Amino acid sequence: MSLTLRGWMWMKLYLATTNLHKIEELKNMLREAGLEAEVHTPIAVGGMPEVIEDQDSFSGNALKKARALAALLPEDGLALADDSGICIDAFEGAPGVYSARYAGEGASDEENLAKLIREMESLPDGSRGGRFVCHLAVVSPRGEEHVFEGEILGEILREPRGEGGFGYDPVFRPVGHDRTTAEMSASEKAAISHRGNAMRKFLGWISASYSKVQ
Ligand code: IMP
Repeated sequence: MSLTLRGWMWMKLYLATTNLHKIEELKNMLREAGLEAEVHTPIAVGGMPEVIEDQDSFSGNALKKARALAALLPEDGLALADDSGICIDAFEGAPGVYSARYAGEGASDEENLAKLIREMESLPDGSRGGRFVCHLAVVSPRGEEHVFEGEILGEILREPRGEGGFGYDPVFRPVGHDRTTAEMSASEKAAISHRGNAMRKFLGWISASYSKVQ
């Protein structure tokens, strides 16, 4: 279903996440795109409601998070939720939707990264492919919904490299690049990343929707 943006001159976007890395990346992308929107975190509406991420798809979890926040928003608000993860070819797409808790419930990024390095130790060069996936769900308070998908293919290194990014970035080297996404600047990563690719689809859609009413 598509959103109706009738009469909206100024949009209020609410990011349905408490992950500070995601908030920073999403805000930077929106700023660089020059989208005329107020961008808020869930703090603006009293905090992110608790959401159990029990769906077996990125879209399912992203929609759950966006719907939970949309229920708290003013009429001119839009909830934007990111569900993302890393999918390893040799593991048939795992950890996928479980990426944030790969090393157990409440695991840190460092623990998850260490587990991935360990589990992939015996995989030979040439069998270390994977992808980052991001599904961005947009939900309005009236229940209109849309999902935008992005991904990036890469190879998983044996040792971490770089200080930027978060999560699995230090071992993820995108296809066609020499550096990991942790060795790239925020805008270099955004130009090729799963989140950047999903965000560009969202921005294309939102500007088309805007131009319809202007
Ligand atoms: P979510 O909060 O359930 O979407 O968890 C996503 C998890 O996937 C994060 O905790 C990270 O471990 C991983 N992840 C998602 N996007 C990225 C990225 O851009 N770089 C590195 N790791 C990521």
